[in-house]
Parts: sequence; C-alpha cells; structure tokens
Amino acid sequence: MKGIVLAGGSGTRLYPMTRAANKQLLPVYNKPMVYYPLTTLMLAGCRDILLVVNPQDVETYRRLFGDGSQWGLQISYAAQPKPGGIAEVFLIGRDFIGSDRVGLILGDNLFYGDSLPTMAERGATGTGATIYAYWVSDPSAYGVVGFDDDGRPNSIIEKPKVPASNWAVTGLYFYDADVCDVAARLPRSARGELEISDVNAHYLKAGRLTVEKLGRGYAWLDTGTPSSLLKAAQFVETVEDRQGLQIGSPEEVAWRRGYIDDAAFAGLIEPIKESEYGKYLQRLLARG
Ligand code: TTP
Repeated sequence: MKGIVLAGGSGTRLYPMTRAANKQLLPVYNKPMVYYPLTTLMLAGCRDILLVVNPQDVETYRRLFGDGSQWGLQISYAAQPKPGGIAEVFLIGRDFIGSDRVGLILGDNLFYGDSLPTMAERGATGTGATIYAYWVSDPSAYGVVGFDDDGRPNSIIEKPKVPASNWAVTGLYFYDADVCDVAARLPRSARGELEISDVNAHYLKAGRLTVEKLGRGYAWLDTGTPSSLLKAAQFVETVEDRQGLQIGSPEEVAWRRGYIDDAAFAGLIEPIKESEYGKYLQRLLARG
C-alpha cells in the first residue's frame, strides 16, 4: 500500500512562524506536526511513503526521516514547485503511485480515535475513492459533503457560502490509481489550484466514492492557525499526560506493528535516551 504525506504549502495563516520554518515541522506539543499524519498512514498499513514538500525543505525532511528504514518504512521525497493545490500531488506522484491504490494525508491534519486503524484500513483496501467526513461547527472553511434523504452523498463543494451540511471533508483520502488521470484532466479553479474537492466530486459523479463518517468519538484537528495549533497541542498534552501513552510516535507504531524488532527499537532509543521521548520509548520496551 502506497501513501503520500503532503507537507508543502505556504502556511500564510501562521506567519511569522512559517517565515523560515515549514508549517509541518512546527511542534504540536512534543513532536513535529508531520509525525501525526505520518503515523496515521502507518496505522492504515502504508509502508511505502512519499513525502511531497516545498523544494527548499526536501533536505530538512530527509534529515528528519531519512529513507524510513529505521521504522521499517520506505520513504522517498518529491518537491512541489509551488503550492498549486492538494490535487497537484497526483501529477507529482504519478510514477510513485504507478498502478497501486494510494492513501493521501495532509501534513497538518491530526486524527485520533479508538478505531482509526480499522477505519483507515477500510479505505486502504476499498475500491474507487474513500474519504472521511467529520461534523464541525463551521463547515464553510472546508470541502463539505451534502447527503440525500437516504443518507447517500450527493454533493461535494469546496468552501461553500451556504453549506449543505456540517460534514467537512477531512485530510485523509484513499484512491485507486485512476486518480492520476482524473487530476490530470481537471481545470484549475478560480484560485489557480487543482482542487481535491473536484477530484472527489468526480468520483462521486462516477458512483465510485465512499464517504465514511467519523463519529463523535474521534478527534479531527487541523493546525493551520495559531489558535488551532495551540488547541491541538493542548489536546495531545491532555491525552498523553492522562494515559502515559503518546499520540503520533512513528517509533512506537513501527515497533507495535512488528515493522521493527526489539533490538532495532532499542537501537533507536539509545541515542535519545536522555529525552522525555526516549524515556517514554524505553518504558514501552521494558514493559514488552
Ligand atoms: P492549507 O492549510 O490549505 O494551506 P497552507 O498550508 O499553505 O496554509 P495557509 O492557508 O495558511 O497559507 O493546506 C492544507 C495542507 O495541504 C497543508 O498541510 C499544506 C498542504 N498543501 C500543500 O502541500 N500544497 C498545496 O498546494 C496546498 C494547497 C496545500
């Protein structure tokens, strides 16, 4: 299963934090933001992962993740020359995707919930396209799904002035390999972008779209504004402190899923054993 993390963008809403640093490298409490979506893809079963980032950030991300082998993954990198829309990722990633199904996650999206791996695995193994919708108080900032009287999706509109529902499209999507051709045929929107909502609307029209509703037991947070970034950090701190278990640790996910064995896990911990993060991983290993 292939997966793409889209971690480019301009991050204008977080300026001046994003003047020199890429948004997805900013901390959400105790980890770089991009750790959270990466682990969500890992939980969906994706081990062959493409990071799509801004050209000036490729080397920084390579420093962060290397080739992924330390976590039992295969990580490669591609540059998006400038932020031309989320769906541009399917032009950039065409060779990577080949004839495989692909998961896409936005680098600033944080998902949390008990059955998330099962939910994401359903998308990973489905047909056509699978997207996830989440009930939000102000849907007009997102792509919004409308439903008919039988609960079937019948519209997807990007940032509607009058939303058809409160169901926002989240930043986790799964597509068959046709998505590259679908994106290649799309016209640019009024804001000059290749819109992911247009891709999803195409699959909807073709009768090949599954919309999974994430219920109230899930958290879906984005981190695009100073306030939402702080709230996400507070959420992570609250849950981690209460449980003594961390959210979004690639080392932990790799070890628990058997991508790496105890010896490899211990090897990852050794150089960071003085940090809180290292001590946490050490406790996991000791508990077995
Ligand atoms: P946005 O939050 O819509 O855009 P942004 O990150 O550039 O921030 P701002 O609106 O403050 O300028 O992007 C959502 C996610 O998608 C985010 O993780 C960045 C990523 N993205 C890209 O990598 N390339 C793109 O062309 C776009 C539009 C988004």
